[in-house]
Amino acid sequence: MKRLTSIEIESLTPYAPGKPIEELERELGISGSIKLASNENPIGPSPKGIAAIAGHVKNLHRYPDGAAHYLKAAISEKFGCSASEIILGNGSNELLDIIVRTFLLEGEEAIFAEPSFVVYKMSTQAAGRKGISVPLKDGRHDLLAMADAVNDRTKIIFIANPNNPTGTINTREEMYAFMARVPGDAIVVLDEAYFEYVVNPEYPDMFRYLRDGRNIIALRTFSKIYGLAGLRIGYGFAPARLVDLMNRVRAPFNTNSLAQAAAMAALGDDEHVKESVRVNEEGKKYLYAELTRMGVDYLPTQANFIWIDLHKDARVVYDALLRKGVIVRPMGPTQIRVTIGLPAENERFVKALAER
Ligand SMILES: Cc1ncc(COP(=O)(O)O)c(C=O)c1O
Repeated sequence: MKRLTSIEIESLTPYAPGKPIEELERELGISGSIKLASNENPIGPSPKGIAAIAGHVKNLHRYPDGAAHYLKAAISEKFGCSASEIILGNGSNELLDIIVRTFLLEGEEAIFAEPSFVVYKMSTQAAGRKGISVPLKDGRHDLLAMADAVNDRTKIIFIANPNNPTGTINTREEMYAFMARVPGDAIVVLDEAYFEYVVNPEYPDMFRYLRDGRNIIALRTFSKIYGLAGLRIGYGFAPARLVDLMNRVRAPFNTNSLAQAAAMAALGDDEHVKESVRVNEEGKKYLYAELTRMGVDYLPTQANFIWIDLHKDARVVYDALLRKGVIVRPMGPTQIRVTIGLPAENERFVKALAER
């Protein structure tokens, strides 16, 4: 792999995580603020996941199972695929990095949408590779333009479905038409971090491409609906030959034992998933109604966050909300992204937005 020069490393933009709430409150002299900035599950972690951790704490002097045998077995049973088609990562974020390091070779290029999840670009740049960004169209991946952007150096195409930060999806028909145009040797990375929140029946089932042996890697995570973001664990489905290559590149113990145990239990916590979807749908309806009432532009979402265009400097609005203890994410010149929270959090956001 090409090594970056120190100047190239200095030119990389670091991921900007939010400050700890306690630190922000201290700086602003406020208390009781709410965080609607990172698309976390507002109802908290899966209770079954939490309970599973306790039983594993006494074994923390042991290394985790590097092959995550039991978790892979649980995932393979739930989704009807072979354990050899599953890869695990320290969050799906790490999987994105592993994918780039494994497959994006010298002289090859990646394609991603703009705006989309920023890590596609960051991982590509950090590996010293070229990325081509294709603007969204009406807030959605422009799959026709992305297929047009493919050239003979294209190796990876990243697609977030639903997309972060817009919450939009590409439909079955659009994805299938796209897959028909993509050359078989390119790898389509389908990032489905918000998969469980999707209620639109037009959402594509990408497993058919795995069964067909296409170069596709579908990524999922325990950070969102399962509420385990702090444990850092995500998973992906890919043909066994691609999983085998990624396993050669990843660190031997990249997922920790508590995360594996919690993830396995959370995967079977249907009640928590159902309740998370219910709270999200309820919050979505409330926010749609209030934003419409205020005449604020937003995009209907299939995820647990909403993309809002305020048609004025997003940073100014972000700061005004912050002072009222409501933390959102500025996401463009005039746009913010707000995570759908608990009813009281949504009400507080609406009130703060109305008063800004
Ligand atoms: C589209 C998308 N993919 C991946 C991730 C990373 O999730 P993880 O916590 O599994 O690394 C996020 C997190 O915000 C996301 O929005």
